[in-house]
Amino acid sequence: MPIKQRTTSDRTLTSDQQQRIIAAANILRNGGTVAFPTETVYGLGADATNPAAIEKIYRIKQRPPNHPLIVHIGNITDLDYWAQAIPESAWKLAQHFWPGPLTLILQRSRHIPDCVTGGQNTVGIRIPAHPVALALLQALGTEKALAAPSANRFGRISPTAAFHVQQQLGSDVDMILDGDTCSVGLESTIVSFHDQSPKILRPGGASAATIEAVLGVPVELAHTSQSGIRTSGSLPAHYAPNTPLRLVQSTKIWQQAQALADQNQRVLVMTWSTVAQQQSTNPLIVHCPMPSNPLIYGQCLYARLHQFDQAAFDVLLSEAPPDHPDWLAIADRLQRASHHFIGNNQNIHHEHTK
Ligand code: TXA
Ligand code: MG
Repeated sequence: MPIKQRTTSDRTLTSDQQQRIIAAANILRNGGTVAFPTETVYGLGADATNPAAIEKIYRIKQRPPNHPLIVHIGNITDLDYWAQAIPESAWKLAQHFWPGPLTLILQRSRHIPDCVTGGQNTVGIRIPAHPVALALLQALGTEKALAAPSANRFGRISPTAAFHVQQQLGSDVDMILDGDTCSVGLESTIVSFHDQSPKILRPGGASAATIEAVLGVPVELAHTSQSGIRTSGSLPAHYAPNTPLRLVQSTKIWQQAQALADQNQRVLVMTWSTVAQQQSTNPLIVHCPMPSNPLIYGQCLYARLHQFDQAAFDVLLSEAPPDHPDWLAIADRLQRASHHFIGNNQNIHHEHTK
């Protein structure tokens, strides 16, 4: 393959993994579904050229049919097979980031069926940086690609380990390929070239600063209501744990935890700063210190939320993240995960910048 590998997951596949990948490719060619690891989150894949297989993804995910899917390809030279009228700046980003956590929204070619794009004339495309995903794409062969949303039910937390997929989707999916824990842990950054000047539709694994540095121009962060483009990840409530999650400012979080414990609620407190370090020994309050480095925080956020959902907490309190570009994707996911408590979030002032 002429593309470079740039991830920590640059390891050789075992023969058992190779056999499972061949079996997975057969399932996909026969119109089945396979959950597979990427560096961001696990995807729920189907043959992008097979409408009946795509239909299965929507059914398993319980996702509304007008929400488009990302198409995963194995080689940058295939980009103009799946998309057309590709701007020079999109090629630049692809060259820089792929394989990696960046999705480009481009004008679709005739090879992309309507059901993949929810009828829109654009398509989201990326090359995932995971050896299992790349080997699967290679086994699938030419003129094939993997349409894959994150392998969770619509609106729920994305899986960052094979057992998360097993817990959420179980036997609904024909096969789950295990590729360890995802190294990025948050979804790809989505950059749209829909109206010529690039816009970030969803912050994610590729930083806005690097995107701007590669393009040499500032890049706007779009809001769905302005762009008019349907992106399910940009609904206000998304990525939500089953347990209610509230975002609380650093100086108030322990006070709020105590008030809830006084009402006999079991509270989980997630903090990242020294300001909010443990201030209670109440047995109803459990403290989870999170990393203060946003890359490491991002890697483990979903895994923690999955874990807390398995425990019997009444409420999760999360310290508000710093108002800093490096925390953009984390802040975005926490805001959406806590949407049902938006009344509480409005009072958050970002006291810490890092
Ligand atoms: O990291 C990721 O991007 C993961 C892995 C599996 O690749 N995939 C992922 O897919 O997060 P999903 O479906 O959960 O989120 C993809 C987002 C959705 O919000 C979808 O609406 C948006 O991408 N999207 C896909 N095609 C689009 C298009 N043509 N125009 C605008 N948004 C699009
Ligand atoms: Mg998703």
